Amino acid sequence: MTQLLIANWKMNGSKAGVLAYAAELLNFMAAEGKSHQMVICPPFPYLDIVAENLDGSAVQLGAQDCHTQEKGAFTGDISAPMLADMGCKYVIVGHSERRQYHGESDDLIAQKLQSAQKAGLIPILCIGETGEERKANKTLSVLSRQLKIAAGDLVIAYEPVWAIGTGLTPSAAEIEAAHRHIRQELKTNKAPILYGGSVKPENAQEIFAIPGVDGALVGGASLKAADFMALYRACR
Ligand code: PGA
Repeated sequence: MTQLLIANWKMNGSKAGVLAYAAELLNFMAAEGKSHQMVICPPFPYLDIVAENLDGSAVQLGAQDCHTQEKGAFTGDISAPMLADMGCKYVIVGHSERRQYHGESDDLIAQKLQSAQKAGLIPILCIGETGEERKANKTLSVLSRQLKIAAGDLVIAYEPVWAIGTGLTPSAAEIEAAHRHIRQELKTNKAPILYGGSVKPENAQEIFAIPGVDGALVGGASLKAADFMALYRACR
């Protein structure tokens, strides 16, 4: 089975670091072949360097966010057509850090998702419950609510908010149950469903083996090329 591994570098990296990472990855992918799909989502300023330096490899480019509009007076924002123009194939929308620190609502995220699809990008829609929602047994109902905007060609990333960057992960049974629920909610939509939240080389094999897990969205462990390559090797 082919799995999809996506690196979310968040607000990390430098020009020199990105160049070194790309060189390592290029060698790795040339030796490893194309058994699984790999996507790198760098910060906006480094998109072009990643695109140029991974050109010809099987690695694809993604961005971490986009605006709802195609262009206009929105200082500091980046539109989906611009990302497509720079060679992106994917864009993350609705990451919990955008929901939390930028107050993004399901409605706004739906507009971003549609804008991305209109520009020919595949949105990676992030969903997931907070620690409090989990304690209150609301995980599945939160997922159902956040999935109402899921339509068309997209990727779903199930990322429990309490598992992001904490080193904590749900049990395999919990991940399997969440993915099963998401699959049911998606009805006929065959979108891949990724898991995200503290995926690292030590737990990757176990997580990738869970039925219904089509890959992973990875933050911290995607920052070092060696770790990310170890995750690629752990794909089933
Ligand atoms: P993490 O982040 O792998 O560092 O937990 C995942 C994410 O936020 O996408």
